[in-house]
Amino acid sequence: MIKKGIILSGGMGTRMSPLTKAVNKQLLPIYDKPLIFYPLSILMLSKIKDILIIVNKGQLSQYKKILPDGKKLGIKINYKEQSTPKGLPDAFILGEKFIGKSNVALILGDNFFYGQYLSKKLLDCVKLKNGAKVLLHRVSKPEKYGVAKVKNNKITFIKEKPKKFISDLAITGLYFFDNKVVKYSKKLKPSNRNELEITDLLNKYKKTNKLSADYIGRGGAWLDTGSIDDFYKTTNFVSAIENRQGFKIACLEEIALLNKWIKKKQIKEAIKFYGNCEYSSYLKKLI
Ligand code: TTP
Repeated sequence: MIKKGIILSGGMGTRMSPLTKAVNKQLLPIYDKPLIFYPLSILMLSKIKDILIIVNKGQLSQYKKILPDGKKLGIKINYKEQSTPKGLPDAFILGEKFIGKSNVALILGDNFFYGQYLSKKLLDCVKLKNGAKVLLHRVSKPEKYGVAKVKNNKITFIKEKPKKFISDLAITGLYFFDNKVVKYSKKLKPSNRNELEITDLLNKYKKTNKLSADYIGRGGAWLDTGSIDDFYKTTNFVSAIENRQGFKIACLEEIALLNKWIKKKQIKEAIKFYGNCEYSSYLKKLI
């Protein structure tokens, strides 16, 4: 069972400047809560309680205001600062001590997942013992993403932002790795854009036929929030679902309560912490 997870929550957010000049992208609102709540909720739905959030140097205090140490959610949140965005595999170099001898999940701080059966899928994925697993999702513009070709649930080819059509299965920002990921990441060399590349890391697993795939089916959503447009599309999506159904997406306290990690008492404390707002009203309804 994978019991540890990393949220890569730094980055420059260049595409969303000037919004991201003073505030990190993951602290900006997707409808009624900060973006970081969504990837964190995915780890919590995977029953992962030991979490490392990697943030930009100098932004730790901002994060701690909203997510101090996890105690209120019955989880443990550790932080680590990244001096500059060196690439996704840097998460495993920075997180070496946190990971120790465990297997680990990685989720990108700006990725949004939603859908029926998603929790069940996540609980399957964390069973990974050896190798690596990625979640794939069909997209209409594969040229914007890293894509994969698959045979018998094993990935046979991956390509970052392909100019020619190879596959329309995008590799989403949620990955599951065995402990070799630390060793492999340390061996990577920076690419032309001077970053460690996730594709190079995945290729190390592919070489030994240890890279498997699972799918978020057409009933599920994977939204990237990297550009202003995509960011607001995600906000609209959350607003539409929440207002229609009356359920919240990524209400962290609700997930913690369902997982039996916290009790009513902590929900009451959360209501006090958030103050008089719609999120608190929702929490009140839960208890
Ligand atoms: P990107 O989309 O590559 O970068 P970004 O979010 O800073 O956006 P932009 O391209 O507009 O500058 O990163 C994906 C996610 O991973 C995002 O949540 C930021 C995070 N990230 C880090 O925390 N550290 C890193 O070294 C990199 C490359 C990304």
